[in-house]
Amino acid sequence: MTMDRNADAPWSKFDPEAYVDDNYRTPLEVDLLIVRLMRDHFTRCFADTPHPVRGIDVGAGANLYPALSMLPWCDKVLLLEYAHPNVEYLEKQVSPGGYDTAWDPFWNELCEAPAYRAVEPRELAGEIVRVERGNLFDLEHGHRRWGLGTMFFVADSMSECPEEFRRGVRCFMNALGDGAPFAAAFMKESVGYRVGAHDYPAYRVNEDRVRESLAPFTRELEIHDLHHMVRPGHEGMLLALGRRDSEIATP
Ligand SMILES: C[S@@+](CC[C@H](N)C(=O)[O-])C[C@H]1O[C@@H](n2cnc3c(N)ncnc32)[C@H](O)[C@@H]1O
Repeated sequence: MTMDRNADAPWSKFDPEAYVDDNYRTPLEVDLLIVRLMRDHFTRCFADTPHPVRGIDVGAGANLYPALSMLPWCDKVLLLEYAHPNVEYLEKQVSPGGYDTAWDPFWNELCEAPAYRAVEPRELAGEIVRVERGNLFDLEHGHRRWGLGTMFFVADSMSECPEEFRRGVRCFMNALGDGAPFAAAFMKESVGYRVGAHDYPAYRVNEDRVRESLAPFTRELEIHDLHHMVRPGHEGMLLALGRRDSEIATP
């Protein structure tokens, strides 16, 4: 049986508007829950961590809520994305016109915490968020490092190959400096997904696989198993929250 590898998927045909329609235009309770958990994690971490730091969202795609969750803690946020249509979508979101109102419900959830209420998100996103077309796998050697990171539905949703899943997680973690808070989300037991007219690969993960992949990089890790289905073909979502620990030998 052949496995769909990352380089085989039709990334250049990814349709960001169809993706937003399917996943975010009508906010799902599970995403709002993820936003709250991430907001509280970052708020706790930065209570004793100097900031602002530089943040990165890896494989940002057509999702702005990880970037919004980083705004109060950062002086720069990089959205790294491989698919050209998503790069264009993101550039429009951070252009002077401001991001689409579809992202307001997520910001409203963040605003329940005081650090977020102090921020004017459209203005700040336009000032500090930058989009870069790039490949997650190029982060492998840790030449570039960030003080805060997110990776949502990427390492598990880019290939069917187990080695590429582990490599994706490793590349994300190697891009984080010592002590950097992070949030990473995964579709549980996903068998792949369709966006518009195209099919995209996934690697089936469960809580143990996610824990095993992250454990070499962090001693502070909590995994939330969120039993919400957004479509047939997966069994919920996993949210990993932690801090990078570079005392642990980098594999
Ligand atoms: C399921 S989408 C997730 C998008 C978004 N992060 C979210 O939370 O909805 C997977 C994303 O990974 C991106 N991607 C796939 N391969 C990549 C690679 N090698 N480097 C960086 N991004 C990649 C895709 O273009 C797509 O935006």
